[in-house]
This record gives sequence, structure tokens and C-alpha cells, in this order.
Amino acid sequence: MNAKHKLLSRIIRVNQAGELGAQKIYSAQKKVFEFLGKHDDVKEISRMAEEEQEHLDYFNDEIKKRNVRPTILGPIWEVGATAIGLSTAIMGPKAAYTCTEAVEEVIVEHYQDQIDLLEGIDPLLQSKIKKFQADEEAHKQTAIEHGSQQVPSKTRDDDDGPITDCTRRQACVLSLWTYMAMSSGCCISLCAVCAKRSQTRDPGDAGFPESES
Ligand SMILES: [Fe+2]
Ligand SMILES: [Fe+2]
Repeated sequence: MNAKHKLLSRIIRVNQAGELGAQKIYSAQKKVFEFLGKHDDVKEISRMAEEEQEHLDYFNDEIKKRNVRPTILGPIWEVGATAIGLSTAIMGPKAAYTCTEAVEEVIVEHYQDQIDLLEGIDPLLQSKIKKFQADEEAHKQTAIEHGSQQVPSKTRDDDDGPITDCTRRQACVLSLWTYMAMSSGCCISLCAVCAKRSQTRDPGDAGFPESES
């Protein structure tokens, strides 16, 4: 396996895991909002979930076509992503949209790193990731339009003690930490760092990182 193939495999593996996670988050949030009768939120989340499914289908196909081994942590990741979706939706629609904003912000940056790395290496994959990045940016804007930034940092007006109910911060921290920690056995930032490091090496360099992701 040469360096280019390893780089592409790593990108596809982590993206497939990330898109699977996004789909699970939205799916769990949708179920909660269906249960609560929040039809407008169900509609918005369903629309975004359809685009996530398109992204996931693409990377699932690429995994097969390029003979890439999916992450071995997939089942754990699915459970974690579902937990993020359920917990943030239970906090309310705005907390759920805070989760969306936080996760999409990470994904947009992550995809930008890959777009830069893929320049001159795989134009087709690069153009797909550019399209998906635009979708993710639109999801982030949808979240903001639906109040992701309106979640109060404190829900107690009379707060004068050490305990504050920081719903927005909780949603962000919960979403990001879980997302970053569980994605594909190689967190998103690590993927970008590893990939960047590999790009600086000669493609034939035997010292190319050998980690799974
Ligand atoms: Fe996506
Ligand atoms: Fe998205």
C-alpha cells in the first residue's frame, strides 16, 4: 500500500465514521422531537439528515470501491453518537441546534483540511468533500437560525453560588468531547494532523504513519 493510498484510506475511513455519527445524532434527535410533537424541528432535522445520508452513502461506497477497512470502533461510535443526539434533544430544540452548530463547525474545518490536502491528489474526492462541506456549513447556519446561540448560558437569574446551569455550554461540551473522542478511533483533529504530517513526506517514504486512521 503506497503513501497516497494510505492517505486516501485514512480520509475515507474517518469521514465514513463522522458521517455515520452525524446520521445517528440527527436520527436520535428526530425521534425525541417526534415523541414531543415538535413537528417543525422534525422537519428541519429530517431535511439535514437526508443530506447526511447522501454523505454517508458516498463514503460507504468509497469504502467498498477502494477496499478500505472501516473503523473497528464503529459500534461504539454509533452508541456514542446516539447518546449525543438523545441527550441534547432532551435538553430542548435550541440545545439540539447548539449541538448541530458545534459539530458542524468542527466538520467544516476538518473538511477544509482535507480539501487542502487533496489538492492535486484526488480531484473527484476533493470536489465531493467540497460539496459536503457546503452542506455542513448550511446545517450550521440552519442551527444558528433556529436559536443555537440563544440558549442561555445561565438559567438561574439569582445565581450567586458556584453551581450554574449552563445548558448551552453543556450541549457544546458534551457534543464536541464525545464526537472528538470517539470518531473512528482517531479523532478528527488527529486525522488532520497525521495527514498533514504525511503530506510533508516523500510519497515513497517508508516512515509514513502506520496508525489505523
Ligand atoms: Fe455530513
Ligand atoms: Fe451536517
